[in-house]
Amino acid sequence: GTTNSRAASTRNIAERLEKHKNELVIFWGSQSGTSERFAETLGRECSTRFGLRALIADLSDYDAGSIASISHSRFAVFLLSTYGEGDPSDNTTGLWDWVKRLDSDKVSLAGLRYIALGLGNSKYKYYNHVLDVITSAFDAAGATALLPRARCDDASGGTEEDFQAWKEDVFAMLRSMGHEERSAEYQPSFEVQFTDDPGLVDSAGAGHKGSVHYQPSSTCSAIVSLPVKSSKDLFTAGDRNCVHLELDLAGSPDVHYKTGDHIGVWPVNPAEEIDRLLDALGLQEKRNEVVTVAALRDNTKPKVSSPTTLESIFRYDLDICGPVSRQVFLELARFAPCTEAKTMLLEVGRDREKYAQLTSKTHITFARLLQLASPSLNWPNLPLSFVIETLLPLQPRYYSISSSSVISPRCAAITALVVNKHLPGPPAATVHGLTSNYLFSASNLTARSLIAPPTFNQTSRDPGLGRSSIRAHIRKSKFKLPITSSTPLILICAGTGFAPFRAFLAERLKLATIGKPIGKMLVFFGCRHPDTDYIYRDELEHAKERLYDKLELYTAFSRESEEKVYVQDRVAQHAARVLELLDAGASMYICGKASMAREVDMRIEAAVKVAKGLEEAEMKAWTDALKKRGKWKADVWG
Ligand code: 2AM
Repeated sequence: GTTNSRAASTRNIAERLEKHKNELVIFWGSQSGTSERFAETLGRECSTRFGLRALIADLSDYDAGSIASISHSRFAVFLLSTYGEGDPSDNTTGLWDWVKRLDSDKVSLAGLRYIALGLGNSKYKYYNHVLDVITSAFDAAGATALLPRARCDDASGGTEEDFQAWKEDVFAMLRSMGHEERSAEYQPSFEVQFTDDPGLVDSAGAGHKGSVHYQPSSTCSAIVSLPVKSSKDLFTAGDRNCVHLELDLAGSPDVHYKTGDHIGVWPVNPAEEIDRLLDALGLQEKRNEVVTVAALRDNTKPKVSSPTTLESIFRYDLDICGPVSRQVFLELARFAPCTEAKTMLLEVGRDREKYAQLTSKTHITFARLLQLASPSLNWPNLPLSFVIETLLPLQPRYYSISSSSVISPRCAAITALVVNKHLPGPPAATVHGLTSNYLFSASNLTARSLIAPPTFNQTSRDPGLGRSSIRAHIRKSKFKLPITSSTPLILICAGTGFAPFRAFLAERLKLATIGKPIGKMLVFFGCRHPDTDYIYRDELEHAKERLYDKLELYTAFSRESEEKVYVQDRVAQHAARVLELLDAGASMYICGKASMAREVDMRIEAAVKVAKGLEEAEMKAWTDALKKRGKWKADVWG
């Protein structure tokens, strides 16, 4: 039988490790799944290379307090992601709250030996904040760090390389601790079997019911299928295309949203890529046969539903369109169908430079790599377990809802930018944004100047209704309007960052119409050019007409003239007005790319220092106080 940490009977990690004689525990704290995958990779290699039994643990499955009792003969690994404003993932909040009390509760961690790796993005202001806070608290409480804390930086896509480098440090540490390394045979994590057992065949036909990884919670609704009520093209310019979709919630009575919430869209993979993978594996004929997938090791969590079919796994469960890491080149080599393929994989896999060169010229998905390494032969020796282990689970992509729940409670709007990047090759390739293209294909729009958009199967068409639908869930956010409509607002955004502000403005306009007092609204909007990507311009101008001097609109166009004007430049220009409204109790919101938000923050901070004559620390205290009171909020992405 298989067990995993979710099924653990105890919430005491120390007891669990004693009972199962695990030499180490690898905790992961993540939303997007990257640190979970790293935990699995590290655990697997600790086992195959060093014969160690590592427990992979979701942080929220154990009481944080029990970490203090982990025996000195074992050690703990922490893989910790940082999000947005220096926030921990949902499953890290228990640990997060506990470490903040370590000092006041006088907890001793003198027995704890640990190592830690942080996952973050240096484009964000609070780069790896969660790692720093947690490890500093551990150290202050007397814990022993076996390695210096390490960081993965996603800014330039370096997370994967950073992880590989750190993993080598961990293995060197294990060797120095006296653990002997053995030659590593490939050991599958899953048993994948084709079956014609009628009972299994029937249950596999039941259709796909959402991801095995996803569980609804107090912040996230169930995944539902939402019909596309209407769609329109906001702009098309070169390889960028922006669409507006309205999704019908009428058929999902248990799912609700509030203005400012997010919608998580679950994409499916395009037909071409599924075909490419099945061709490379030589399994085209077996795509609809029923397979069972069972975890072979303790701690291996199910990754796909079972029983299932390859068709279903590759369409719904695994991300087959993403880029492949250098490590995968190396791991694939042993299964190569010919020596040429093996040589190519090892050559590129061992050379960071060559890998970077190749991936800058062409898009290497898993299937493309199989074809590139071996153009004529397919891969009969490649275990399906390896394919399932290597590919990432398909993740939802989050969008800020661009409609107001006060105006349309049963209809949620999405504003999505579809970008397809063409790479020269060889072989030439187009990088499609998976989810945005999925949304695009579910709309009734036809591509105008997009480069060959991918085709998705009919799965997103709802045959009964004769229209498209998309799979999605609603996630609650803290990006909420102030309760009082007379509170002034400062809204700062660029590009599709305008999405939630469209909802905010519509809601305020509605309140004004029914006679409520409305506070001043400062809107800063940035885009490339007034004639190309100025989204919802008509709505903004309409609001301006209706609200007159209640609405102050400042636009920044980065590609209108020789000079690049960004939204932060406008903010700096009108800083006095911004501060005046903040002092008058305004709520400020920033939405868009993290790099933009960071620059906006810096400009406002600089203005605060000058205008109020504050030192750096005083200024920080002033801005922190605003953030604590919910008067300074950000909704940003990488
Ligand atoms: P660009 O001309 O440099 O691409 C929406 O994409 C708008 O955001 C564009 O006008 C884009 O300008 C701008 N943008 C890109 N990076 C930015 C940053 N760091 N700060 C502010 N605006 C930015």
